Amino acid sequence: MKFFIDTANLGEIREAHEMGVLDGVTTNPSLCAKEGISDFEGFIAEICDLVEGDVSAEVVSTDFNGMLEEGRRLAGIAENVVVKVPLIKDGIKAIKTFSDEGIKTNCTLCFSTTQALVAAKAGAGYISPFVGRLDDISTDGMQLIAEIVQMYENYGYDTEVLVASIRHPMHVAEAAQLGADVSTMPFPVIEKLIKHPLTDIGLKKFLDDWNKLQDSLK
Ligand code: G3P
Repeated sequence: MKFFIDTANLGEIREAHEMGVLDGVTTNPSLCAKEGISDFEGFIAEICDLVEGDVSAEVVSTDFNGMLEEGRRLAGIAENVVVKVPLIKDGIKAIKTFSDEGIKTNCTLCFSTTQALVAAKAGAGYISPFVGRLDDISTDGMQLIAEIVQMYENYGYDTEVLVASIRHPMHVAEAAQLGADVSTMPFPVIEKLIKHPLTDIGLKKFLDDWNKLQDSLK
């Protein structure tokens, strides 16, 4: 499974990248607003310099021509830019056009299997189902992942399932068990993946015992 970081914070991207397990980055307009990004294209260029994997940059136009114009400009920033497009009718049209032009896309704001089916037919590179936001409204987000993974397998679609709106490590564990291609996670979730109290307790005991041995040898 590929690990993407879901953030517009360069410090977090750097730290995750230095861990050596980062395969890509996803951003969205809300994350950029949170970080006060003023030069979006410059910011995407900076991430692309740092990270080799796919970097999703989202269009903010909601009409076909606007999406095409924005997406083509974003795709021109670097080879690893993936144009993120919302799952609306003009977005599907834009994804089909981008796909015909060889521009990779990430179809975002997916909340149903039928949406994911249409996105795959249009040639989306990634589909981003938002599991946390479904859980928020008492609907099983991971069930949607299971359905999409199965559906894409049934027909051999190349579209990769990118699990988004991940809120905790169990989302990642379940996504991996279901065979999803990518989990995109906020930085604190990446950190939590490796946390275990028994590891901390065990390490403390090893080091305490080692130090006692050293003292006894003095
Ligand atoms: O990638 C989409 C993701 O950022 C949405 O997450 O937590 O705002 O639902 P969230």
